[in-house]
Amino acid sequence: MLATRERKIEMKVLGVSGSPIKNSNTDRALKAVLDATECETEFVKLTDYTVAPCLACLGCVETNRCVIKDDGIELAEKAKAADALVIAGFTPYSTIDSRTKAFIERLYPLRHIHGFMAGKPGGAVITSAVPEDSDQLPPACQMGINAIQFYMMEEGMTFVGAVKIAGNVPCVKCVHGDECKMTGITMLYGPNATKDSVGIKAFETQPVAVEAARELGRKLAEALRAK
Ligand SMILES: Cc1cc2nc3c(=O)[nH]c(=O)nc-3n(C[C@H](O)[C@H](O)[C@H](O)COP(=O)(O)O)c2cc1C
Repeated sequence: MLATRERKIEMKVLGVSGSPIKNSNTDRALKAVLDATECETEFVKLTDYTVAPCLACLGCVETNRCVIKDDGIELAEKAKAADALVIAGFTPYSTIDSRTKAFIERLYPLRHIHGFMAGKPGGAVITSAVPEDSDQLPPACQMGINAIQFYMMEEGMTFVGAVKIAGNVPCVKCVHGDECKMTGITMLYGPNATKDSVGIKAFETQPVAVEAARELGRKLAEALRAK
């Protein structure tokens, strides 16, 4: 799905979500960031596109265009045309999801000689099921943010901030969630946790995340105004 809106500042902010779930927490948080910029924005859902990972063939060095004939070329053109970029993903097995990672890799053609992304402000949105205060489990959310932040750093972009959302372990929506010996519910929330006690988590009921989304949008707009 793709939505373009005309807004106050004559700058365009591109938001790209790697979340495969329809209207997911990640998508809604990303849209909240885009709204808060008050710029013209475009929301891209990566499941609407086909994007293979980079081949590391260096075929893009002279042309700044990927040799893989899929939608990665169009998405790189969108990123090149945008004044700011927000990348949103989730953290299966404690790191950035593969769609988001493939998208990031396919921005490599924009790097050579010209550094087309350099100087642009950017931000990250990450949804994770591992509770932020867990000291027994991997820091999934931070690992996801790192993947996006380090991409932006390596391209000379200005990373202005991140939004962390508490997401749903898939087992809360699974019919076997409370009987399965491999359930993630007890792994994440302790031996007595159940589908009911954990419930479904939504971005809109997390005031810290909602404020972080507004703040990221405001900071992106500020960075664009200062250009
Ligand atoms: C195959 C799979 C593995 C997952 N593993 C992790 C994990 O290791 N750590 C974590 O924090 N979340 C994990 N999750 C949970 C996702 O981060 C969670 O479902 C997230 O809320 C999805 O965001 P969305 O609703 O915006 O798509 C996993 C989800 C899937 C589907």
